[in-house]
Amino acid sequence: MTSTTSLERRSRYPGGRLERTLIDAESLQERVRELGAEIAADYADRDLVLLCLLKGGIYFTADLSRAIDLPVTVEFVRARSYAGTESSGQVQLSWIDGLDIAGRDVLIVEDIVDTGLTLVEIWRALEEKGAASLAICSLLYKEKRLAHLFPVRYIGFAIEDVFVVGYGLDYDERFRNLPHIAVFQPESARSPSR
Ligand code: IMP
Repeated sequence: MTSTTSLERRSRYPGGRLERTLIDAESLQERVRELGAEIAADYADRDLVLLCLLKGGIYFTADLSRAIDLPVTVEFVRARSYAGTESSGQVQLSWIDGLDIAGRDVLIVEDIVDTGLTLVEIWRALEEKGAASLAICSLLYKEKRLAHLFPVRYIGFAIEDVFVVGYGLDYDERFRNLPHIAVFQPESARSPSR
């Protein structure tokens, strides 16, 4: 039996409301296990670094790393591009200078690929550091929004063009701790008559 949490029962929040569940917690966990098995098979006998893009990738990376039956290492880089529900068009990367990835196989772990701009920036920065190989694993993928075509090797779920929160994804820093993925409807996108 699925129980509703206090977070889910309160549908309205400052700035908008939680509209509906897009991917439930059980489906997320099942897909993460499948991805973990696939990655473990592909990277057997390699020196794999999981590079978590913070903050959104934190829950996905924590679960994915435990689903990969290999002695991986986990590193973190902070990438920022969003203000509210819109991309600012500029990506700021932090903590990339200290990364030691020369000669190693790096798998970038993202919460969502939207326009693809974040990946363009991070890919460029990692290439300069001499990784043996680079690949991307994204939990979610918004195909319709892609402005920068990028080879995403592992995709959890392709989703429609909606703003989502939960399982690491936020709206102005809220809802990262939802155990599922929900559609968030911002206030400004609603008709004033409703
Ligand atoms: P991109 O650079 O446009 O691909 O955007 C990637 C980043 O934007 C993600 O890592 C998220 O932090 C954020 N983002 C994009 N779409 C959403 C969404 O629907 N909900 C929450 N964050 C999003």
